[in-house]
Amino acid sequence: MVDLLLAVRGLNKQFRSGTQSVSVLSDLSLQLGRGESLALTGRSGSGKSTLLNILCGLEKPDAGRIQVLEEVFDSRKPAGSRQAEARWAALRRRQIGVVFQEANLMPALSLLDNVRLRARLAGQADDKCEDWMERLGIGELADRYPDQVSGGQRQRAALAMVFAMKPALILADEPTGSLDRHTAEAVTRQLFDLQARHGCGLILATHDAELATRCNHHLDLGHQPET
Ligand SMILES: Nc1ncnc2c1ncn2[C@@H]1O[C@H](COP(=O)(O)OP(=O)(O)OP(=O)(O)O)[C@@H](O)[C@H]1O
Ligand SMILES: [Mg+2]
Repeated sequence: MVDLLLAVRGLNKQFRSGTQSVSVLSDLSLQLGRGESLALTGRSGSGKSTLLNILCGLEKPDAGRIQVLEEVFDSRKPAGSRQAEARWAALRRRQIGVVFQEANLMPALSLLDNVRLRARLAGQADDKCEDWMERLGIGELADRYPDQVSGGQRQRAALAMVFAMKPALILADEPTGSLDRHTAEAVTRQLFDLQARHGCGLILATHDAELATRCNHHLDLGHQPET
């Protein structure tokens, strides 16, 4: 049996707009083992980004239990949630690498310094950072600042940051969404290579059906039960 990395049970999330409540995630459960990958698909607005945000603690579910490694977050146990923010922050610093639709880079630091900072915060050596940028095809942009590069280049810098921190779990929201097909293929290869080499888990939100078939598991949020 694979070593369990993530276990989610009974997750519910609603958003209120005005007087109306819209159910985005309803009684969702999933599990992921170390070294496994899961593709999240579903139409625009089906809740892929919301789920990824919940799985790294940036969004709170209305109900549900989430276990990441040894940490348990249970909405029914308020006592256990007292230091939840700090526990989620520690997980994001060392164990959960996130690549979101909007790359989260420090504007005052060069791309390379962004990657180095991420590695150091995760307690990793920062001597491989240039190498990661090279492999992702942005080696020549190391000294540029985030506002001096394109959206796809920023996204690749965000991926280099995740690679440099060597997390146990990678959450990637459309990581190749703003890349041309050739670059997307190269970046995807690096992502799956890294995952295989480090045995980390990978959850990938994507509209790309071919990319979804490369993952071990597939969850289509378009087929969530209606409430
Ligand atoms: N902060 C918020 N307040 C209100 N509604 C929200 C909020 N965030 C997301 N939503 C709504 O929740 C639903 C799910 O959004 P989400 O961003 O998770 O979709 P998605 O599957 O990632 O879509 P896409 O493929 O377009 O990225 C959408 O209907 C969205 O409008
Ligand atoms: Mg999204």
